[in-house]
Amino acid sequence: MAELPRTMQVEAALERVRAAVGPQGWTSDPHDMQPSLEDWRGQFQGRARMLVRPAETREVAEVVAACAAAGIPITPQGGNTGMCGGATPPRDSDGIVLSLARMNRIRAIDATNFTMTVEAGCVLQRIQEAALEVDRYFPLSLSAQGSCMIGGNLSTNAGGTGVLRYGNARELALGLEVVLPDGRTLDGLTALRKDNTGYDLKHLFVGAEGTLGIITAAVLKLFPRPRAIHTAWCAVPDVASALDLLARARAESGDAVETFELVSRAVVDLVLTHIPGTADPLEKRYAHYVLLELVSSASADDGLGQRFQQLLEEAFAAGLVIDAVVAQSDRHRGAIWALRENASEAEKLEGASIKHDVSVPVSAIPSFWDAAWQAVRSVAPDARLAAFGHAGDGNLHYNVIQPAGGDRAAFLAQREAINRAVHDAVHRHDGSISAEHGIGRLKRDELRRYKSPVAMDVMHTLKAALDPDGIMNRGALL
Ligand code: FAD
Ligand code: MLT
Ligand code: ZN
Repeated sequence: MAELPRTMQVEAALERVRAAVGPQGWTSDPHDMQPSLEDWRGQFQGRARMLVRPAETREVAEVVAACAAAGIPITPQGGNTGMCGGATPPRDSDGIVLSLARMNRIRAIDATNFTMTVEAGCVLQRIQEAALEVDRYFPLSLSAQGSCMIGGNLSTNAGGTGVLRYGNARELALGLEVVLPDGRTLDGLTALRKDNTGYDLKHLFVGAEGTLGIITAAVLKLFPRPRAIHTAWCAVPDVASALDLLARARAESGDAVETFELVSRAVVDLVLTHIPGTADPLEKRYAHYVLLELVSSASADDGLGQRFQQLLEEAFAAGLVIDAVVAQSDRHRGAIWALRENASEAEKLEGASIKHDVSVPVSAIPSFWDAAWQAVRSVAPDARLAAFGHAGDGNLHYNVIQPAGGDRAAFLAQREAINRAVHDAVHRHDGSISAEHGIGRLKRDELRRYKSPVAMDVMHTLKAALDPDGIMNRGALL
């Protein structure tokens, strides 16, 4: 029988997709599709034939099989909070966006095994709440947690504010269910902590940004619920002192540090300017702050509060902390956290920013900070630095923002030179150009520049083996 022309193959495949998900599961209405065709920062816009929203794994498998048969590209999408445009289809795409939003069931919670089985479209905050309901704790925590979804968190290997104590998203997944680019389902939903039966395949899909398959469900690790949380907002004289404080806090608290976020004054000013209801908890202005949080899961007061006080007093005496406020209530703690959690939003409201989500060894942060800033100033003398981030993980959001009152377009035209300044400094300090946000469409060229040719070759080999026709998230990462 003669092969159908491509347009007819595509039409037949799209009909199969529509039949697989039913009328609730797809739209091609431009107005309904619009939010899925743009990233939240407004930096990427794309095109798609259809937005498809399957409700079950077998529907995802059928959709992918239909698309594979006709070579239709698929852009997976979770909460669309990603920083690198990975969830936005290409501008010239004739494919579909596959949203996991309707796959939002918590399939099982096993409090004895400290695990939870969830579908990819579960919003992170819902997972945290469900864990607390059974007196357990899911520690992945980021400011986008009210919108981002666990499938997106795993696909970007999200970090956030709990990495120091609990690890990245990768460390929090025991098993995954994945629909492969040919439509087969890889059922790896194991709740085992020990399983050495060959390659640990889940790691291929964590951090793959949807280029190797679609994560449809995951088994997550749970932890004992924190009983005591001690929070301080500390002014520090400089970045190096912040890191001395970190070392001291880890060593003297029995490694109870869950949060160690560095926030520069420029960021605090942006938050106070743009986010209603925020206030500076300290009377004087300082160059840098640390949001420090010590946590204990012990049911009785195990003396952590006393160690926390002692730590702060000793840090004062040593000149590592020059002013501080300790949270006295949940509300007070929330007000302190607001200065950190609203950093990205405030920065967006301020104007154009060129983001750098970088990591270097913790001990190299001060040297990196100065070297990168000197390099940026040499190409963009009036640019401002809004740096903050997970310093305890060596991860800084070294974001360069447009000059106050300056021209947005003129500033963005310097993107290449500013990226070079920062990323070359990262490279010289043995760091990474993407600590937690991933590569997406934004940093593909940067990846090629800094990743070794051998590593790139291995990644391309894996991609070709699993997705030979390149339908999965075309144009992202590789
Ligand atoms: P999306 O943006 O929808 O997708 C991200 C990538 O994953 C895309 O490439 C997409 O194709 C792919 N993908 C999505 N779901 C699937 C799936 N089920 N299967 C296969 N591929 C899939 N990130 C951090 O790491 N740490 C932070 O501290 C942090 N803070 C943030 C604060 C704010 C205010 C905002 C807006 C974002 C922040 N982010 C942070 C970035 C973002 O929230 C994370 O990258 C998050 O993990 C993305 O999840 P999502 O569901 O929104 O994924
Ligand atoms: C955060 O930690 O708040 C985000 O990952 C940072 C950013 O917006 O650059
Ligand atoms: Zn971050």
